Amino acid sequence: MNDRRTALITGITGQDGSYLAELLLSKGYRVVGMTRRTSTDVHERIGHLGDQIEIVSGDLLDQSSMTKIVEDIKPDEIYNLAAQSFVPTSWAQPVLTGEFTGLGVTRVLEAIRATRRPIRFYQASSSEMFGKVQDVPQTEHTAFYPRSPYGVAKVYGHWITVNYRESYDMYAVSGLLFNHESARRGREFVTRKISDGVARIKHGLARELRLGNLDARRDWGFAGDYVRAMWLMLQAQTPDDYVIATGRTHSVREFCRLAFAVADLDYERYVVEDPKFVRPAEVDLLIGDPAKAKRVLGWEPVTSFEDLVERMVRCDLARLQPLARV
Ligand code: NAP
Ligand code: GDD
Repeated sequence: MNDRRTALITGITGQDGSYLAELLLSKGYRVVGMTRRTSTDVHERIGHLGDQIEIVSGDLLDQSSMTKIVEDIKPDEIYNLAAQSFVPTSWAQPVLTGEFTGLGVTRVLEAIRATRRPIRFYQASSSEMFGKVQDVPQTEHTAFYPRSPYGVAKVYGHWITVNYRESYDMYAVSGLLFNHESARRGREFVTRKISDGVARIKHGLARELRLGNLDARRDWGFAGDYVRAMWLMLQAQTPDDYVIATGRTHSVREFCRLAFAVADLDYERYVVEDPKFVRPAEVDLLIGDPAKAKRVLGWEPVTSFEDLVERMVRCDLARLQPLARV
């Protein structure tokens, strides 16, 4: 009898998808990733996994593709990571963001319901749902007050997950994950924009780095630590929702100071505040309380903020070294 477990990951080409695929492979899973069709190759983050993973084509906008994939693959666990995940884009494309990041969750849940199999489901919820925070730090009991169409869509995704758990007795959980970063982070997000910017300036490829609100504060962790929490949530005896965070908060300015210092540079000489990157509504302060995850799942972050910043900058310095002009 083959007792190898099968996991289906939507959004496998993203930052978290790539780390989660590595983790599940290391635990002996059969890993299947769902990707949408594109005319260009977007498999940069999972290319190194080669034929260790299977790829199937589907789209969270399309119910029939979701239902067929779940029926064919027969996963034991589904991790729904796919989303339009960049907050500023959600003001430019609010309807698409709602369709994909919000309603897309219902499509996966409906696909699971149609198979009548005991599939465990993880929904990638977000600290962005806390928005204009109602408590500091934020816990599983903090009321949501989203400040972007993305945050609003994620609130829908969270509650539909809870609703299917309660309505159909499904093992469906929502991970309230705070910002998590890595050298695989998309370059539009602020941490990677900074590490990439530092490397460009150090190598003579840029003269300045233009950013928005330097006083915004985030609870930043390492993506590799956070995918472990996703897996743990699906191994628990009972389905429940968890805040995953470090419990420490830092400003964008602090991130800049540390990141430029890794390359022996003073951020004040290079960082320019540009209103173009300021958002219509801002989330000023995020800080999560991960006590429940520690108590119930035994989860704790391993990587410190300082190590994370240093690792990201060193990776970008090495990546851009071949192009260096100085
Ligand atoms: P990411 O790097 O932006 O990856 C997003 C994934 O979703 C990619 O595989 C992307 O596929 C897919 N995707 C995006 N828009 C899509 C669309 N319109 N149709 C089909 N697929 C689409 O995000 P991440 O940082 O790994 O985050 C994973 C999940 O966790 C997301 O749901 C995000 O909202 C949530 N989350 C992230 C954080 C964080 O700090 N990273 C915190 C809380 C929650 P393509 O390659 O085809 O674009
Ligand atoms: N992207 C970006 N670019 N952000 C900037 C900039 C800039 O030039 N300058 C300042 N910031 C500030 C933003 O205003 C925000 O307050 C903070 O940096 C973090 O922005 P992002 O890195 O874009 O992340 P985010 O917090 O909006 O969203 C990320 O984390 C969420 C969890 O809280 C994404 O990964 C979401 O998908 C995720 O749900």
